[in-house]
Amino acid sequence: MKQLLFVLSVLVATLASAQTTRAKVSNAPMELTTFETIKLLEPDTLGGKPLMQAIARRKSDRQFETRNLSLKQLSEILWVANGINRANGKRTVPSAMALYPLQTYAVLANGIYFYNPQKNQLEPVVKGDYRNLAGKQSFVDTAPLNLLFIAKGKSATDNFQGAIMDSGYCGQNVYLYCASEGLKCVVRAGAKEAELLKVMNLGENYKFIIAQTVGY
Ligand SMILES: Cc1cc2nc3c(=O)[nH]c(=O)nc-3n(C[C@H](O)[C@H](O)[C@H](O)COP(=O)(O)O)c2cc1C
Repeated sequence: MKQLLFVLSVLVATLASAQTTRAKVSNAPMELTTFETIKLLEPDTLGGKPLMQAIARRKSDRQFETRNLSLKQLSEILWVANGINRANGKRTVPSAMALYPLQTYAVLANGIYFYNPQKNQLEPVVKGDYRNLAGKQSFVDTAPLNLLFIAKGKSATDNFQGAIMDSGYCGQNVYLYCASEGLKCVVRAGAKEAELLKVMNLGENYKFIIAQTVGY
C-alpha cells in the first residue's frame, strides 16, 4: 500500500511539473528584429484539443490579423508540417518510401527562412518582406506566416507526384493544429512561383508545390 501511494505521489508530482513547464512557455508575438537563425522550441505534445474536436473545427480562413505568431506557435506549426517525431528520423507526415521530397520554407515579415527539421531551426534564405510573392490573394501580403512546400532536386522532376501527395499531409496537419490552437489558415495552390524561386535563389531543380497562410 505504501509503495502504491509512493508511485501515485511521484506520478502526480511529474504531471504537475509538466503542467508548470508548459504554462511557462509564452505565447507573446515574436518581434523579428534581426534576420538570423531561429532556434525553434520542442513541441508541446501534451497540448492541444482532442483530435475529434480539432477535426470538427478544421476550416479555411481568408482574413488574417497582422499580429505575429509566438515562437511556440511557429515552432509547433513547422513541426506538425514536416518535423521529426521519432528517433529514426521519420516525420510527423508520411512519405512514400520515406523519401521526403518536400522542403518547407517560412515566409515571415522580415524574410524567407528554410526549415531544417534535423536541427529544429529556421535558417535565413533571403532578407526582406517577400510575403506578396507567397500568393496572389491580398491577405497573403500582411499575414504573419506563409509556409511554402517546395520539391527539391530529383524530387522536383522524378518524384513530382510524390511531392504533391506529401504536401496534402503537411497541409492537413497544419489545418488540424490551427483548429486545435484557435489559429486560422488556408492552403493555397496560387503563388508567384517564378519570382519566388528567383528571389530564393532556387534553380530549376526546385518546384513550388503549395503554400499555406497561417495567423490569427
Ligand atoms: C489543393 C488545394 C488548393 C487550394 N488553393 C487555394 C487557393 O489558392 N486559395 C484559396 O483561398 N483557397 C485554396 N484552397 C482552399 C479551398 O478553397 C477550401 O479548402 C475549400 O473551399 C473548402 O473549404 P474548407 O477548407 O473551409 O472546408 C485550396 C485547397 C486545396 C486542397
